[in-house]
Amino acid sequence: MLPETIEWISDVPLLRLLDQRKIPFSVGFRECRTYRETADAIEDMTVRGAPAIGVAAAYGIVLAAREDITKIDDAFTRLSATRPTAVNLFWSLNRMRSVYEKSMGAHDICSILESEANRIREEDIDINRRIGRNGAGLLPDKATVITHCNAGALATAGYGTALGVFRTAREAGKELKIFADETRPRFQGGRLTAFELCEDGFDVTVICDSMAAFLMSREKIDAVITGADRIALNGDTANKIGTYGLAVAADRHNVPFYIAAPLSTIDFNCPNGTKIPIEERNCSEVRKIGSELIVHEAAKVWNPAFDVTPAGLITGIITEEGVFAPEEIKKLKKKP
Ligand code: MRU
Repeated sequence: MLPETIEWISDVPLLRLLDQRKIPFSVGFRECRTYRETADAIEDMTVRGAPAIGVAAAYGIVLAAREDITKIDDAFTRLSATRPTAVNLFWSLNRMRSVYEKSMGAHDICSILESEANRIREEDIDINRRIGRNGAGLLPDKATVITHCNAGALATAGYGTALGVFRTAREAGKELKIFADETRPRFQGGRLTAFELCEDGFDVTVICDSMAAFLMSREKIDAVITGADRIALNGDTANKIGTYGLAVAADRHNVPFYIAAPLSTIDFNCPNGTKIPIEERNCSEVRKIGSELIVHEAAKVWNPAFDVTPAGLITGIITEEGVFAPEEIKKLKKKP
């Protein structure tokens, strides 16, 4: 059984997060009682995955309001500074801010904010199921697929985006063989996707990231499906480092390459991928595996956490509103 990624316990109040840094070695939880603890948990990747980060941040705002509503601006500032690439974080904080501004001075402001955070969480699960329904039809009855990083229940409020497509396909009676890239340097594929899929009884095979192109040359792969952290207006898509290389390999082998993501991952203010801020994380993530040093101390290390897959390599973007070609993304912008 898959543990709950994010749990809100209102009467304390506290946010209980599955500690994803420890999976699969142990299944433990971290309790956040303040927005500061919530921000730390997002930053250190206790909770990760674009939609899950957005949901956690929304509850961080509720914790701030319950602690001291006069300091809520500090909470918006601190939470916004945690992870720069996942646009769902800013989308969610903007939603919380606009509810806050509309209800400023109301005696029940805390419960108004709490209802909004609950809505963001519930909507996310519903959206993922719709993404699943829109994506499942793209797969044949017997499908072999590759995914990268973790875009599952662990990365969302539940069900997942890319892994949600696999879940719906299986619910529809399709037979799936899933290859999960291990996803250096933090191993979200090897640790989290394999854990999530095994707990749910899927057929999953873990490969090193460097093996995907060779796998495509040897075995018929029906599709690659990954999640996204930010989609630009022209369809360029930021996702976990290694996604771009996987898309290049898929293109070379004529394998359809899909992104599964909610509309909240589209940044309508970002014209193209060169404008997407890319998080760079501590070099120790590359230098070490666990606590073991694997790189000579004198060697320099570069550690971008995300890359940008150009729109031209993306077959389709699976959203809750349907599957779109990258060039159709701009049409989804709502008129103000
Ligand atoms: O650094 P992470 O683990 O937060 O990166 C996660 C990803 O890149 C996911 O693919 C993305 O956030 C989509 S999750 C539905």
